[in-house]
Amino acid sequence: MYLSAAYHRIPLSDGNSIPIIGLGTYSEPRLLWATHHDPQMVRPTLERTLRDLQLDYVDLYIIEIPMAFKPGDEFYPKDENGKWLYHKSNLCATWEALEACKDAGLVKSLGVSNFNRRQLELILNKPGLKHKPVSNQVECHPYFTQPKLLKFCQQHDIVIIAYSPLGTSRNPSWVNVSSPPLLKDALLNSLGKKYNKTAAQVVLRFNIQRGVVVIPKSFNPERIKENFQIFDFSLTEEEMKDIEDLNKNVRFVEMLMWCDHPEYPFHDEY
Ligand code: A2P
Repeated sequence: MYLSAAYHRIPLSDGNSIPIIGLGTYSEPRLLWATHHDPQMVRPTLERTLRDLQLDYVDLYIIEIPMAFKPGDEFYPKDENGKWLYHKSNLCATWEALEACKDAGLVKSLGVSNFNRRQLELILNKPGLKHKPVSNQVECHPYFTQPKLLKFCQQHDIVIIAYSPLGTSRNPSWVNVSSPPLLKDALLNSLGKKYNKTAAQVVLRFNIQRGVVVIPKSFNPERIKENFQIFDFSLTEEEMKDIEDLNKNVRFVEMLMWCDHPEYPFHDEY
């Protein structure tokens, strides 16, 4: 069996494909962040990013979050009283600007992130929709398995990309740590022992085996290597079911500081 991610791609609805595993890179937001949702900002912002990356195009371009913030170069805009400066979201208009970037050849595929079912339907049912979202990047791991959103996305040929697939860094300044640490879970560790793997590898294998792309983040070279060594074992159907049963339906990444934004995605059940 191959130990490389290069041979493990899954098809996207637009004819392209995506590796089933990628390297998570989040540390600070960059351009296209939610302060650049206004349609006229989308292409110039993307062109700036392409210049920074010295690329002619990117494979996948996503709306990172459905909540728009005051336009500008300040990533987390607040007023003088510390109140968040929201901006009126028009997700369909932003989406049309993304479609134009794909038509111009600057992007191969288009996706979204942190969208709930209603927000996905807003795009899917948009009159004159040219390009469907191929992916929705959301929190997804054995303690938050996303059964309903996953089913909905599968029905619409939208691939789920799992962020925080290892259960986050558990930084209490932005992570809800009411659930225990995922990688300390007894079942995941006993399965790791059985396959001579770590709990992290079992967790990642669980998602890719059910068609969910994973983007684990690590700053440690050994752990980065470890996270990609998940193509030489497989979990049985019963083990997959047992892991699914670990679901607690509690998010680690709640983004509660923005819960009064009109497009806060996590009030809905899914
Ligand atoms: P580190 O960068 O020190 O490796 P997520 O992708 O779920 O947000 O998780 C990221 C966190 O998980 C980071 O704190 C990262 O720390 C840690 N991590 C990444 N890979 C592994 C691994 N194989 N085993 C244990 N912890 C890991």
